[in-house]
Amino acid sequence: MNNITSVIQKAKDFLINNPYDEGHDLYHHLAVWKNAQHIARHIKESADIKSLHIACFWHDVVTTPIENRNFKDRDKMTIKTAEYLQKLMLELGCNKDLIERTIIAVCEHDLNSRPTTIEGKILYDADKLEFLNVKRWIKILDALKTGKMVKIKLFLYKKAGKRWISKLKRMYNFDYTRKLHDKKVNEILNNSTANKIAADLGEDLRKILIGE
Ligand SMILES: [Fe+2]
Repeated sequence: MNNITSVIQKAKDFLINNPYDEGHDLYHHLAVWKNAQHIARHIKESADIKSLHIACFWHDVVTTPIENRNFKDRDKMTIKTAEYLQKLMLELGCNKDLIERTIIAVCEHDLNSRPTTIEGKILYDADKLEFLNVKRWIKILDALKTGKMVKIKLFLYKKAGKRWISKLKRMYNFDYTRKLHDKKVNEILNNSTANKIAADLGEDLRKILIGE
């Protein structure tokens, strides 16, 4: 196993055994990596693919054990993860530039950030597109129903969706992501499961997606 594969395998171990929650598990990270590769292939700027690959798999990893977590301390958990990742990459002999690019991308991926590197910009867009993944909505709702996820998260995720989804087009870093966003929005508006979920939650799907 080379050092890149080892770093990614460690992220997968955390995502399987200690995910942040069912909306931020291995499935989410695989989807973000798929989106990121897609975006990277369709933009003019070229990214360091190794750094992007690692950042995609580590961006929502939480190293804090579940019993010690307070979900209000998400920022602190991200810093701990970045410190852990930096140490791991050094131990595995990754070069300084790769480590720096990766850590910056991970630390600049949250909604309120404005990423400063090409890898960070791709990760940001790839991650935010996952607001529009109906299968992910279903996973989260199933986890709420079975008690795997605390009920307050439904309120928090609904609030985040209503606040941000219709604004995402202004926040993306690439026109290509905006095209992908429009395609996904159209698919969701015509998706009977998505319409049923919105109706069951008493929400106006069109208003959430396009703000009107
Ligand atoms: Fe994410």
